[in-house]
Amino acid sequence: MTIFHISAECFPIAKVGGLGDVVGALPKYQNKLGETSSVIMPFYNNKFTHSHTFKKVFSGRFNLGRTFNFDILTLEDNTLGYDLYLVHIPELLYTDYVYSSNDTERFLGFQIAALDWLVQLKTLPDIVHCHDHHTGLIPFMMSQSYAYHKLRNTPTVITIHNGQYQGWFSHNKIHLIPPFDFSKAGLLDWKHLINPLASAIKCAWKVTTVSPNYMEELKFAANGLEDLLRYESGKCVGILNGIDDKVWDPATDDSLIKNYSVKTANSGKKVNKEWLCKEFNLNPELPLFAFIGRLVGEKGADLLPEIFNNSLYHKNLSIMMLGSGDAVVEQELDRLKNQYPGFYNTYIGYNERLAHILYAAADFLVMPSRVEPCGLNQMYALRYGTVPIVNKVGGLKDTVEDFDNSGFGILHDGATVQEGSFAIHRAINFYNDTDRFKKNRNLIMKIDHSWDSSAQVYINLYNSLIL
Ligand code: GLC
Repeated sequence: MTIFHISAECFPIAKVGGLGDVVGALPKYQNKLGETSSVIMPFYNNKFTHSHTFKKVFSGRFNLGRTFNFDILTLEDNTLGYDLYLVHIPELLYTDYVYSSNDTERFLGFQIAALDWLVQLKTLPDIVHCHDHHTGLIPFMMSQSYAYHKLRNTPTVITIHNGQYQGWFSHNKIHLIPPFDFSKAGLLDWKHLINPLASAIKCAWKVTTVSPNYMEELKFAANGLEDLLRYESGKCVGILNGIDDKVWDPATDDSLIKNYSVKTANSGKKVNKEWLCKEFNLNPELPLFAFIGRLVGEKGADLLPEIFNNSLYHKNLSIMMLGSGDAVVEQELDRLKNQYPGFYNTYIGYNERLAHILYAAADFLVMPSRVEPCGLNQMYALRYGTVPIVNKVGGLKDTVEDFDNSGFGILHDGATVQEGSFAIHRAINFYNDTDRFKKNRNLIMKIDHSWDSSAQVYINLYNSLIL
């Protein structure tokens, strides 16, 4: 079957968060299972597009208040493991960022151009799989816009990676959507706004979230969409994300200072830890705690300065923080450096290579998230023999079990400073139980979170729509 994933992000072309990782991996595994799975995404002005050459497969123009020209480009030389189609709209999408404040027009243009191309293909797709609100109007347009009537019977799937953001815009922009029977305008609306995510939940043939527990949570907390999700629950299902176990393999990861397998984990991790501690002036003899991610409220980042301060007071651990986001949190986290030199350091920014080294070097990864639809970092940590310390929410609850409850990680109940600080205290005791800690390290590295099984679950879902 031919599957097209449509997304704003796809690693390694452009990644802001986990969405990019998922869209960069899932199609690869679907192809491995014998399907033809491809990705359609914007052509951004970035390192990837500068360093590759492309050929044009289609050109078109569409109206979005005025006329825009676009090309569909594909790679000359493709080693990604799936076909990649890039929507090049110079005036809207060729930017050095993925998201901005002008995203209604940018992503509407993207979705229209993608459909203009798909609808004229000789062989129409079997499945169109959309990701998050940036592609949320596609199920509506495919089923309602006259221009796409040929795609009316093609099943659509929307995956919610993050239900907080919904892409709302005012009804006075409704004319930007390619013409449709106006009596169907209600399919675009939620609470007097055009809401692309709500529209996708109404119009897609299936709605998935990136973990089963997150689907249940959304029925009670979905930034206004709770009732809609409950109403549509018959077509909703949670499917746990996997990780790309080729990119995330400590035995072959070329970002690491030293590669290691389950057997050589203790010595291998030690070399990475010593390198990192030297580089960032930390004490390698102490348990090393890491935070990696965006510094936003959803990730509980605002709790970190106080949690870290409480824990560092005892000077029996090292902490390395890698991430960027909220400017106030960034400042607070940076300020702590003066208080605890030799025990604490930060790298404010995005650095994929350093993230890989940090997963390998650290003993623990902290994730005090308030909302975590799936969370990939805890799965990367496990594969690198690093114990996740997580708030019991979303996909974290589906993937981590507490070591005091015959599990292997550390769970806390609530995103609060007290809970987070106490979890770190428990972690240090765990670390000091050396034999148990080392056995646990070997155990977690063997947990299989690769995409193999989830990629198949998606294929079964598609089949249920086609047959
Ligand atoms: C979003 C979510 C994260 C999830 C990722 C991939 O970034 O916040 O929890 O793992 O999407 O689905």
